[in-house]
Amino acid sequence: MMHDQDSSRQLARLIRSRRSVRRFAGRPVSDREIETLLEAARWAPSGLNNQPWRFVIIRDGKLRQEIATLTKYGKIIENAPVSIAVFLDNQSLYHREKDIQGIGAALQNILLMAHGLGLGAVWLGEILKNAKRVGELLELPTRYELMAVVAVGHPDPDHKPPVKERRPLAELVLKRL
Ligand SMILES: Cc1cc2nc3c(=O)[nH]c(=O)nc-3n(C[C@H](O)[C@H](O)[C@H](O)COP(=O)(O)O)c2cc1C
Repeated sequence: MMHDQDSSRQLARLIRSRRSVRRFAGRPVSDREIETLLEAARWAPSGLNNQPWRFVIIRDGKLRQEIATLTKYGKIIENAPVSIAVFLDNQSLYHREKDIQGIGAALQNILLMAHGLGLGAVWLGEILKNAKRVGELLELPTRYELMAVVAVGHPDPDHKPPVKERRPLAELVLKRL
């Protein structure tokens, strides 16, 4: 249960220590681990509980290479053993902005769960410039709109991702009323 101080501290530590992982060890990611990531995504909040997220799991090497050509961060996709492409189902929309926000929550759940499992992951957005091409490559109906690709793998033990600093709260809180 998330009610005791210890688990809140653990959660805070998990959130704080997550980094975008862009370098991977060769070791494969199991189907079970992928299920755990998708399960975390599935339990994200969404407006009206609309659950507009859809997923494509990409392990196939040739497909990964093809998708990699669609972003300047393609090397990351090529080197990660698996990528999860996350889509918005435009035929299940209730409110575009809120549906997209819910997908953001699902994406963060994937990243945090990956970190909790000792996996590494990175949210790739630059590829959205070629969102249509990704859908075509995956042979998806046009109702599915790409929101992000998450590259997943075991972190390269010889590379520690740099900590990207965050703005202090004092700059972020506009008012305390
Ligand atoms: C919407 C979004 C798009 C992103 N797109 C990319 C991307 O295309 N390529 C990449 O290497 N990282 C991408 N990132 C990861 C960010 O660069 C990263 O989260 C940020 O620099 C903070 O670093 P951290 O995640 O290690 O704390 C994206 C993150 C978000 C939330």
